[in-house]
Amino acid sequence: MKRILVTGGLGYIGSHTVVALQKAGYEVLIIDNLSNTSIDVLQGITEITNIPPTFERLDLRVKNDVTSFFERYNNIDGIIHFAASKAVGESVENPLLYYENNVTTLIHLLQECKVHGISNFIFSSSCTVYGEPDSLPIDEEAPIKKAISPYGNTKQISEEIISDVCNVSNLNAIALRYFNPVGAHPSGLIGELPVGIPQNLVPYITQTAAGVRKELSIFGNDYPTPDGSCIRDYIHVVDLADAHVKAIERLIRAENSTKFRVFNVGTGMGKSVLEIVSAFERVTGETLNYKIVDRRPGDVVAVYADTKKANDELRWKAQHDIDAALASAWAWEKKVRGID
Ligand code: UFG
Repeated sequence: MKRILVTGGLGYIGSHTVVALQKAGYEVLIIDNLSNTSIDVLQGITEITNIPPTFERLDLRVKNDVTSFFERYNNIDGIIHFAASKAVGESVENPLLYYENNVTTLIHLLQECKVHGISNFIFSSSCTVYGEPDSLPIDEEAPIKKAISPYGNTKQISEEIISDVCNVSNLNAIALRYFNPVGAHPSGLIGELPVGIPQNLVPYITQTAAGVRKELSIFGNDYPTPDGSCIRDYIHVVDLADAHVKAIERLIRAENSTKFRVFNVGTGMGKSVLEIVSAFERVTGETLNYKIVDRRPGDVVAVYADTKKANDELRWKAQHDIDAALASAWAWEKKVRGID
């Protein structure tokens, strides 16, 4: 049985990936510092798979703790590194926190890879590295634009660090550039747990429908798009989790065609904010209270993925549509709020 370390394994995408890995027959070790999630997620994972993953509460910024972890757990076949801070606005307010949380932690892990001969590494990257695309859909060869936020910059820097390390060591790595992850596990046992006011569209929608928020603000309807609202590529988190399983399999089978590969992980379909709102209303039968407000600074107008490379090389393709994703997000929100 192959042993995979998942950092940030109790977070939103991490927890769904742990489930997918366990179902695919991997042994999973989880590191998480619980800074943006709850220990209850461990129970949710275990209820779904009937396999309690090994869990260590650990802060990857603390070098001694990381070293001690890798001394205690050997024979790790691969690492999937999710643990990071992800709030764009917060990164503008507190850039050093982001460089420390997202870059220092990566360096600590790569140092341990070197010491312990771990050669398979998957990194959580983001379509944010593309900035405002010159053409759509966007493929992996598109230029990397200057990052708008320190958060985005940490993703660019991290990809470069990994690439440099691959060049001079036995490390083989894949960066998965996520588009917009949404939805929850069909079991209703794990999902997104935003702390405080949600920054992202779908949790804001579900919290508004649940009565936790008064109304959704739609950030702008005067963009150069068919209905004036921004366009994104919303990918079901279960599909996204599956992409990680495909990626780690590829590394373990030594199928990576070059030592460092990047793949877009999206559906390939762009949906506007207003389309998401009406799809949510149609799928759930709920009426959403919303208003149009000013544009949000830093938002790109439109971005969606060219998924050919992931389809062909990773042999991965999104299986769920936006309706399924929104239905699962709503089922999860209702469960969290105790709504029938
Ligand atoms: N939006 C609203 N109202 C809200 C929240 C969002 O109208 O309350 C709109 C945004 O303006 C945007 C769309 O919904 O047009 C999606 O916004 P999200 O915040 O859900 O997602 P983003 O595309 O802005 O952000 C995502 C990731 C970030 C990443 C970024 C890169 O969440 O981590 O993509 O483009 F940096």
